[in-house]
Amino acid sequence: MSSQNVIFLISPNGFSSLFSNLELVITLITFLAVFCFWLSPGGLAWALSKAKTRSKSAIPGPSGLPLLGLVFSFTTGLTHRVLAQFAQSFKASSLMAFSVGLTRFVISSQPDSAKEILNSSAFADRPIKESAYGLLFDRAMGFAPYGEYWRNLRRISVTHLFGPKRVAHFGEFRREIGLEMVSEIKNLMFKNGAVEVRKVVHFGSLNNVMKTVFGKKYKFGENGDGVELESLVSEGYELLGVFNWSDHFPVLGWLDLQGVRKRCKDLVAKVNVFVGKIIQEHRVKRGEGIEVGVDEGCGDFVDVLLDLEKDHKLTDSDMIAVLWEMIFRGTDTVAILLEWILARMVLHPEIQAKAQSEIDRVVGTNRTISDSDLQNLPYLNAIVKETLRVHPPGPLLSWARLAIHDTHVGEHFIPAGTTAMVNMWAITHSDEIWSEPEVFRPERFLEEDVAIMGTDLRLAPFGAGRRVCPGKAMGLATVQLWLAQLLQSFNWYNAVEGRGVDLSECLKLSMEMEKPLVCKAVARV
Ligand code: HEM
Repeated sequence: MSSQNVIFLISPNGFSSLFSNLELVITLITFLAVFCFWLSPGGLAWALSKAKTRSKSAIPGPSGLPLLGLVFSFTTGLTHRVLAQFAQSFKASSLMAFSVGLTRFVISSQPDSAKEILNSSAFADRPIKESAYGLLFDRAMGFAPYGEYWRNLRRISVTHLFGPKRVAHFGEFRREIGLEMVSEIKNLMFKNGAVEVRKVVHFGSLNNVMKTVFGKKYKFGENGDGVELESLVSEGYELLGVFNWSDHFPVLGWLDLQGVRKRCKDLVAKVNVFVGKIIQEHRVKRGEGIEVGVDEGCGDFVDVLLDLEKDHKLTDSDMIAVLWEMIFRGTDTVAILLEWILARMVLHPEIQAKAQSEIDRVVGTNRTISDSDLQNLPYLNAIVKETLRVHPPGPLLSWARLAIHDTHVGEHFIPAGTTAMVNMWAITHSDEIWSEPEVFRPERFLEEDVAIMGTDLRLAPFGAGRRVCPGKAMGLATVQLWLAQLLQSFNWYNAVEGRGVDLSECLKLSMEMEKPLVCKAVARV
């Protein structure tokens, strides 16, 4: 019987019931398919990948919600803790798989697999979010694809911005900013009887980066360039820190439901004018014959880029991206770490007193501290390390890595395009690695000298491998010096006597204190 005859034999009612049966079957099959995908370890994105056919055994991990995967772990502000818990319950510390929409993730919560990921050239790329693209950061060092352009930027900045000579060169300037923060704190205590630490250290840190990179210092809280700079920076932080659904659900991309694309476009236009003006000012100065010899260590990073722009084929917009990114990498990491340290000083007065007596012994009370004193303050340095362990500013190492090609971690096959993360927070809170990991005890670093610059993955707050933080020496020198100055100058107490410190965390671009620390800073000298 021909198909035409079959159609004629079906009555109009029968036809519609056949059609609705067909609809039901298709819905059922789709539902079953999604359900099976969802049930597979790591969720939908892993089920759709070729890892399924190429792996001897699946990487363990939660399937999460159908289609959505672990989306809601990324909207809590405590992603590092949620992922650490999953890794524990799935016995997947070495490597865990999960999905967020169509994005495939692996995460390591253990030093050996973390080392393998961070040191492997297969993971030397970074996944780039829509906001980072929108802010043109694909031309900046942190997001540039692994290749010649990135290698050039890295070489230039390691030589001319982050090298030991340059870090030492800016020591005096860091000291000046530290002294300005001390006098700002005195003013605020006089006016309000309390200090919101975050504001003071954020502006100090922003000025430090602006001077090192752009050669300029700003006044905040008044009209003018400082206020504009601050509004550009805070808008950028918000855009880079927000969880953007379009990054993981491409179909939502064109809708721009959260308005991220539009806001990035608006911000980039303003940044181009702001940073473009600074570059232009440098050009004019150079045109007037004011020689800025970078090699003699007196130019800033704008001068460095201008010196190299022809040889390295940097356009104006490349320079703007590179310079602008430094603000986002260098400002809040330092300010947030310092706020956590001061919170710990308020919470543990005996540790604060021990650090102050070390400073008094080494530096005395008649002169202010400078960079050269820092090597003689091991207890102070141990406090910084212990805070980096307990409250790492990048608990998931800030920005993840991306598998450039198919590769393996241990025996597990990882397809190209997989996002790889390291849960440094889980590693630094593991009782298999650290004794009493929840206890804040700087002495542990006097008993054992643990390297923190990326060779020992038990504590690698600056990452490791090819894309390790290039600003680590500068960041550390800044935090140590400012902490020493703040402890030399003040005794730190809670603003409300007898009340504890709220250590709740909130992971945005970095891991901040959820409630800003408000202190009483009582002058010591
Ligand atoms: C306490 C301070 C800081 C912490 C905790 C920190 C942490 C990090 C981490 C975890 C990474 C990712 C590393 C990886 O993927 O292995 C990173 C990358 C980066 N950091 Fe830092 N950082 C700090 C200070 C700074 C400063 C002061 C600057 C510059 C002014 C800076 C510039 C960068 C850049 C440009 C990258 C990207 C490097 C690349 O992809 O090649 N950081 N940082």
